[in-house]
Amino acid sequence: MTIQEEIKKLKEDKQAVILAHYYVRPEVQEIADYIGDSFYLSKIAEKLENPIIVYCGVSFMGESGCLLNPNKKVLMPDLKADCPMAHMVLKEEVDAARSTYDDLAVVCYINSTAEIKSWSDVCVTSANAVKIVKNLPNKNILFIPDKNLGRFVAAQVPEKNVILVKGYCPIHENILAEEIRELKALHPEAEVLVHPECCEEVTAMADYLGSTSGIIDYATASEKKEWIIGTEMGVRYELEKRNPDKHFYFPKTEPVCGDMKQITLEKILHVLKTEENQASVVAENSAAARKTLDRMLELAK
Ligand code: 13P
Ligand code: SF4
Repeated sequence: MTIQEEIKKLKEDKQAVILAHYYVRPEVQEIADYIGDSFYLSKIAEKLENPIIVYCGVSFMGESGCLLNPNKKVLMPDLKADCPMAHMVLKEEVDAARSTYDDLAVVCYINSTAEIKSWSDVCVTSANAVKIVKNLPNKNILFIPDKNLGRFVAAQVPEKNVILVKGYCPIHENILAEEIRELKALHPEAEVLVHPECCEEVTAMADYLGSTSGIIDYATASEKKEWIIGTEMGVRYELEKRNPDKHFYFPKTEPVCGDMKQITLEKILHVLKTEENQASVVAENSAAARKTLDRMLELAK
């Protein structure tokens, strides 16, 4: 049996389901039951009936899967695969903002630990952040931890006072405007599609700014043939699968998330066999973090 066949058989025997983010390796996306951006995966995770969920992504995704499915086993192929940005805010920063503004809403990006979610009022993803912030009754918004997504949101909701912290995704922050300009010079017909986790100079060059699903859907719906992509390389797999006749150009310093790439077929097979590496959230953070996620799912409807 190939490793793919072994995974498929074990998955069926145990009624397990495999979820994967667009940034994981192509061979992992290929065997997944559901592939998507963070928003799509959290919606799916909430609805699944399977007793075992194998979450191919980084630890905040496993924690969210766990919070939304408290009675299921959420297995992480690699428990050490973690998003550095998910930790980039301190409780003191949240407390300071709360004591400064009476009507403050603390909005946390889903790329955050369950503990950070437990300090927050509502969670957002890159796909729903603008809609949710716009509809909050509060004037003052503390957006944590991603300063880049926060800046993107602030620009779309000028009626709010959006306060930012200093967190950022090292992979998107490292996408260089100079390299996008070089690609634009080489492919003048190409449109530039960028994830809002990128720095200001890069987002300013975008023809379209959106989540990974947004980028994939935008390129797929268009008649245009050439695209410059400002996000993690993993999206190439789905972009090319859906658009075999189109060309996708990535920066020459390839944006690769080493944590997402830790997920391999061998590790998936191992957790399916042993049921080791169960994601968990410490009890004291669970209820508040779950409320933050539930509020997102409610407000995003
Ligand atoms: P999404 O498009 O899923 O929000 O991806 C951003 C990301 O960095 C996930 O880690
Ligand atoms: Fe975190 Fe960036 Fe990797 Fe996404 S791409 S998991 S935000 S480090």
